[in-house]
Amino acid sequence: MRSEGAILAARNVSKRFGGLYAVCDVSLDVRPGEVVCLLGDNGAGKSTLIKMLTGVTTPTSGELVVDGKPTVFSSPREARDAGIAAVQQFGGTVPLMSVSRNFFLGAELTRGWGPFKRMDLDQAGRIAVQHLAEMGLTRLTDANRLVGSLSGGERQALAIARAMYFGARVLILDEPTAALGVKEATTVLRLVKRTAERGIGVVLVTHNATHAIHVGDRFVVLIHGAVAADFRRGERSRNELINLMAGGEELEHLEAALL
Ligand SMILES: Nc1ncnc2c1ncn2[C@@H]1O[C@H](COP(=O)(O)OP(=O)(O)O)[C@@H](O)[C@H]1O
Ligand SMILES: [Mg+2]
Repeated sequence: MRSEGAILAARNVSKRFGGLYAVCDVSLDVRPGEVVCLLGDNGAGKSTLIKMLTGVTTPTSGELVVDGKPTVFSSPREARDAGIAAVQQFGGTVPLMSVSRNFFLGAELTRGWGPFKRMDLDQAGRIAVQHLAEMGLTRLTDANRLVGSLSGGERQALAIARAMYFGARVLILDEPTAALGVKEATTVLRLVKRTAERGIGVVLVTHNATHAIHVGDRFVVLIHGAVAADFRRGERSRNELINLMAGGEELEHLEAALL
């Protein structure tokens, strides 16, 4: 079976909304230490596929396989418990809370017990800063800083560090670089690489072929919900990738016409 060794796999999954197939018969493997880039134009079905992988929605047909076992995620929580973490744009962080509060949001560290139980903010701050430094954010040394004062890239780094601290094995990022400037996007792409180097499987959704080529080990292109191409690093050029994403239309010709 192709999905051998995969932490997470989709096998022939489809999602239908009324008469429309948003995702049609897609298979995809996520392996430890590999970055899978999921590419496609707007409306290609990328987010719908991601929602099925992360328990936000269930497939109309087909199945998910976790560690070789067919699995149904009834909620994002179940996916998270299986080690599948989704990072939202801006990291799903709360701007008016501190870095350390965001890091432990919903899983607060405490000390003492009964009526003496308190949040252990010092310990939380130390852990947050240490794990952010490991992700390369060495300038972020004050855990009391409000997240609203961080850049978009830093907020995503926080969310990634947090997911890894809480045991993520697969990290799924839906268009993490879409709203970022060039420098910020580079930061996020570096993080993606670093995350994979630690043995995490990464799914990176993007419609930026250049970003994908910088970090991808494997590339899956969706057109109208179906897999139009599935290849490994080095098997196709950037131009081929761009043309594939445009639905096979020759962009060079268009460029020539515009000049
Ligand atoms: N909840 C929904 N109800 C009906 N149609 C949907 C829903 N979610 C997505 N779609 C449709 O499915 C297709 C794929 O959407 P989406 O997965 O968001 O694409 P992408 O993320 O690649 O831009 C689109 O045509 C979209 O309009
Ligand atoms: Mg989308």
